[in-house]
Amino acid sequence: MKVHILLGPPGSGKGTQAQRLVEKFKLNHLSTGDILRDAVSKGTEIGLRAKAIMASGKLVDDDTVNGLVFARLRQGFEGDVLFDGYPRTLQQAEALGEFLSTQMIELGHVLSVAVPDGVLEARVVGRRVCSNCGAIYHVETKPPKQDGICDLCGSPLKHRSDDTAEAFRSRMAEFNATFQPLLGFYERKPNFRSVDGNLAPEQVFESLVKLFAECA
Ligand code: AP5
Ligand code: MG
Repeated sequence: MKVHILLGPPGSGKGTQAQRLVEKFKLNHLSTGDILRDAVSKGTEIGLRAKAIMASGKLVDDDTVNGLVFARLRQGFEGDVLFDGYPRTLQQAEALGEFLSTQMIELGHVLSVAVPDGVLEARVVGRRVCSNCGAIYHVETKPPKQDGICDLCGSPLKHRSDDTAEAFRSRMAEFNATFQPLLGFYERKPNFRSVDGNLAPEQVFESLVKLFAECA
């Protein structure tokens, strides 16, 4: 088993691309944002603590997130894992590195989706997500066939509580404060690559697929 990592700012397309990569390469998708949102909706102890932090666009503390990820990895997976939204800080990256070496799990691809700041807010504010299957839409650039309804499973679409302009700005501030050290940590790894995420989703996917095949 290997773990692969998708890095990128809020709205860069990590979730969109992860859903496609998972299908193509038969990976297990591990999104810390999805795990935390699930904890919030179930009202677990972590969810109760994380709810307001997430809605305001701040980061949940490293120990909590590392704990969730390591517990899930300890349960094991059939096949490789694709992280989306994790690691997010240098501390998380270092803790993950130690965890992987103690568990003898290999680090696979580290792919950074680069998108200029200027286009991200509109992507995030217009995003809608299926409440059942998690399919990702956008009111303008990827609208569902029927307003508010998922094309794939017919369930209602929802608007994430942190997809407001205000929370987005806070998420960007968190990203800008943490990304350079994280990038510095991974740029030195042999399987690190960056892709242009400011293209159509299909083109971004093509670049990612090529990299997955190239530096296996
Ligand atoms: P998380 O859920 O990870 O959110 P994020 O990183 O802010 O990223 P997003 O999910 O907003 O964007 P995305 O890159 O997945 O874009 P998407 O494909 O959906 O984290 C949420 C919160 O949880 C955090 O703020 C924090 O509180 C907490 N958290 C999570 N992980 C944590 C961690 N490790 N440590 C601490 N706290 C953590 O696309 C966005 C929109 O753009 C969609 O509408 C889509 O249709 C559209 N789009 C996608 N690609 C393109 C394209 N190429 N061109 C045009 N539009 C596109
Ligand atoms: Mg996402």
